[in-house]
This record gives sequence, structure tokens and C-alpha cells, in this order.
Amino acid sequence: MKGILLHGGHGTRLRPLTHTGPKQLLPIANKPMSEYCIESMKDAGVTEIAIIIGGIGSNKVREYYGDGEKFDVKITYVKQDEPLGISHAINLCRSFIGDEKFLVFLGDNIIQKNIYNFANEFLNSNDDASILLCEVDNPSRFGIADMHEGKITKIMEKPKDPPTNFAVTGIYFLTPKIFDIIDNLKPSWRNELEITDALQILLSENNISYHIITDYWKDTGTPEDIINANRAILENKTSYFYGEKSDSVSLTGIVLIGKGTKILGNSQITGPVIVGENCILDNVCIGPNCSIGNNSQITNSNIQNSIVMSDCIINTPIKIRNSIISSNSEIEFKNDSQDEKIFLLGEGTKILL
Ligand code: G1P
Repeated sequence: MKGILLHGGHGTRLRPLTHTGPKQLLPIANKPMSEYCIESMKDAGVTEIAIIIGGIGSNKVREYYGDGEKFDVKITYVKQDEPLGISHAINLCRSFIGDEKFLVFLGDNIIQKNIYNFANEFLNSNDDASILLCEVDNPSRFGIADMHEGKITKIMEKPKDPPTNFAVTGIYFLTPKIFDIIDNLKPSWRNELEITDALQILLSENNISYHIITDYWKDTGTPEDIINANRAILENKTSYFYGEKSDSVSLTGIVLIGKGTKILGNSQITGPVIVGENCILDNVCIGPNCSIGNNSQITNSNIQNSIVMSDCIINTPIKIRNSIISSNSEIEFKNDSQDEKIFLLGEGTKILL
């Protein structure tokens, strides 16, 4: 089966983290979030993926995924010049898809369930679409499905008065019938060709099957979502230790330590925690729920429920909580600075002291 992975957009709710690259490349447990999507697509039997790129830093997507060989899948790129919606992006892939059934995955959707069975069922059915629904607390933020006697009766985008709290997740099994529908779609109030509008038209003529997923699913639009996804992914990992540590270091729970990483002093690592390669952690309290990227050096610091990306230097008595710290950042404590702090901040930075 072929697949389409949406990797564009501006990631405005995640600025300043998205000033230098697309949000789908932000790391969760030290891996870009869209790599989890590629793994899910492969699980579903997808062997060829068109990645839709557009917006800031789309060259980074090409650099990371290349032709897909490293990821055991064939990857091509399709440029979406303007963020004109999911349906618009799908329509750009008409010739890539041809006349086969296909899978569309939004690159900011993380799902823990293996979707192989759903894919298989869809391929063997006469349905023109199959979608995955998941109950959410904030239905007005999503596409929502209404159901009656086990059948979907209506699909709508971000309704003010949601009839149910079943969100349409960003994982769609489709047939080429959708292309003709998209050709006749009108842009929505947010000037996008909505996938929910296309599905609603399809629904008036054909059957759309669905599955309700109860395992973890997240659309990672905000920093809190990313930190929560990080926790959920880490909780399902298995510990490994490829680094070195001094005798007084304590490691508890699920802890994953990469090659060349040294843990020194009286450090306490409380899982789930992942630390990448070639890091130095000296006299630190890290965890639970932390991911530390490669080559970072953390000394005399206390970090919880946070993501620190690669090549960071942190040395501070201030406790770091619920934070996301981008690559190459420095937080250093100078003994003589007393109440004075020095900031060198990028546009849109947020500091809560
Ligand atoms: C998009 C879809 C929406 C779906 C959501 C899932 O919303 O339009 O129907 O529920 O993805 O992640 P957006 O992220 O564009 O607000």
C-alpha cells in the first residue's frame, strides 16, 4: 500500500520551537515525532510514502529522511506551497497514488497501537474510507464524528456544540474516490480544504467504517501535548545502558542511556528517562519523564518532566520542570550573578521564573 505523510504547516502554537524547522521533527524520546508515524505506516504495510513538505525548514525533512532507505521505505517528496489544508495536500498526490487504496497520516499524530489489522480489514472491504476515532476531553478542537446504531452519520470540523466527543484522528484509510470529491470542495472558514468536509460528502454516498481506539493517541499541537507524548512513549520503553557511571549514581525505573554517555557524582536518574549518546551528567537529579538529546552536558541540575534536545549545556540550581529546551541552548549559573540574570533569547521565547 502507498501512504501520504503530512509534514508541512507553520506550527505556530509551538513557537519558538518551530522557528527553525517543522514541528513534526521535534523529538519525542529522542526521535522526531514523524518517525513514529513512518513506523506506524510501515506496520500497516505501507512501502512507499509521499511526504508533503512546506513551510519553514522543509529542507530538514529531506535531509533527515532522504530517499527512505535508512528507514526501510521508499520516500518521495511533494511540495505544498501554501498550507491550504489536508484535502489539498492529498490532492497533490493524485498521480503518486494512482488507483490503489492508500493511507494518510498526519505527521503530528502519535499512536501507540499497531494499525496492521485496521489496514488489512480496509484492504479486504468495499468501504470507501475507514477512520480511527478516539474519545477526547476537548472535542471542539478536532474533527468529530456522530454515530447512530454503529454507523457514522455525520463528520464535522471543530464543531462549537460537538454531538459526541469522538475525535477523528489524523489517520485515514482512503480510496482514490476521494480525489474527485476534493476537486469540488470549497475552502472552509480557515481557508483550508478540510478532510472532514471531503469525508462528509463521501459519507452521503458511501459507507465509511471506523474503529474506536482506546490506546494512547495524541495530536501534538502544544508544548504540553509534546511533553505528555514524551511521557507516554517513554513509559513503554525497555531499559538499556550503554554508557558509564560512577558507583554512587542511582538509576531507578525505565532508564535508557546511550553510548559514550557518562553519569557522574551523586546523580539520581528516575525513570522513565532517555539520555542520548555522548552526554555528561554530573551531580544531577533527572526524571521522571525526561528526554536528553545527544552531546548535552548537565551539571548540578534538577530536571523533571522535560525535553532537553542535543548539544545543550545546563548548570543551574533552578529546578527545571515541564520545559522544552532546543538544541544548542545554554543555561548556566554564575556564582557572582546573585539576583542578576543574563538572557539571550530568540524570538517568541517563554521564561517562567
Ligand atoms: C486536523 C483535522 C481534524 C483532526 C485533527 C487530528 O486538525 O482537520 O479533523 O481531528 O487534525 O489531529 P488540525 O490539526 O488541522 O487543527
